[in-house]
Amino acid sequence: MSVRRLHSEQPASFEFSPENMEWAKHTIGKYPDGRQASAVIPLLMRAQEQEGWVTQPAIEYIADMLSMPYIRVLEVATFYTQFQLQPVGKKAHIQVCGTTPCQLRGAEDLIKVCKNKISKQQFTLSEDGNFSWEEVECAGACVNAPMVQIFKDTYEDLTPEVLEDLIGKIERGEEILPGTQQPGRIHSAPAAGAVTLTDPSLFDGSMVKYGLGAGMGDDAAPAAEKSEEKAAPAKAEKKAKAEKPKADAKPKAKAKAKSEPAPAVEAEEVAPALLDAPSGGVADDLKQISGVGPVIEGKLNAMGVYHFAQVAEWTSENCAFVDSKLSFKGRIQRENWIEQAKVLAAGGETDFSKRVEAGEVASSKGEED
Ligand code: FES
Repeated sequence: MSVRRLHSEQPASFEFSPENMEWAKHTIGKYPDGRQASAVIPLLMRAQEQEGWVTQPAIEYIADMLSMPYIRVLEVATFYTQFQLQPVGKKAHIQVCGTTPCQLRGAEDLIKVCKNKISKQQFTLSEDGNFSWEEVECAGACVNAPMVQIFKDTYEDLTPEVLEDLIGKIERGEEILPGTQQPGRIHSAPAAGAVTLTDPSLFDGSMVKYGLGAGMGDDAAPAAEKSEEKAAPAKAEKKAKAEKPKADAKPKAKAKAKSEPAPAVEAEEVAPALLDAPSGGVADDLKQISGVGPVIEGKLNAMGVYHFAQVAEWTSENCAFVDSKLSFKGRIQRENWIEQAKVLAAGGETDFSKRVEAGEVASSKGEED
């Protein structure tokens, strides 16, 4: 961990721009009377976004706004590595996580890239002033180690080559997508495919009717209907025992019986609006929806679903209908298809669809659903 001190050269003054001042007043107003100091982190972050780094005049200005002693705001600014205490690269300040999981997965090689491409020393601007870097402690994305943070976003599952490529793209002003950089990996899902919790009944919605307690403790609901049948006699026996009066029965037993989860009502199945053929003869690429691969897209097309706009209109009853036709029940809600479809139907893009377009998501190109 590096020593965090204020920079030796400081500007003469700081003040929020009119827009930021309006935003700051609104933010401070969110906190109850006497608790305005709670706004210190958002205000420091906004000051950094305005100036590029957190200056001493900004710390004092925010302390005055929040009626806090200067030292308390200084403590916050120097504690969190999200706050830059010296000028950083105009295009990117790269924070390389050097904590154990990232180190074991190659963080030192990422640091070598920064040394070669930016500057030999951390906290030193590149010759053109566009880049700087530093080593930081765990950024909380260890499952995707090694990683770097650039301003507010994290870039994960990096190799030296990928980091070099990212730096090149930033330099050229090209768009880069945050998140995992490993082709085919979805967020922080197991990098080599799932090896646990692979029973589809855990995710297909069939457990919902057992309530939140399903799968936990003595009152656990069975994992599937079959096992429910097996479990029924045992449950009945247990219930009978519980109902049998006991001289030393304790109130705790009664309370437990009361807490049996009430079965939830499953949504009725209602077919959504279906088409005989795609409108205009051209179907949308439904694989741009996260959770829809070629197999599910084929099933949807066969059912009469060709367009994002159709999916965007589905009700919970429609989802229940489509769910019943797919082999992985519960995927619609789990992957939030409807919200994705609304964005895509309106001509927008999602993080996932951008990756599909860029050919970075193997699941949309041929993976079995
Ligand atoms: S150790 Fe690097 S993100 Fe946690």
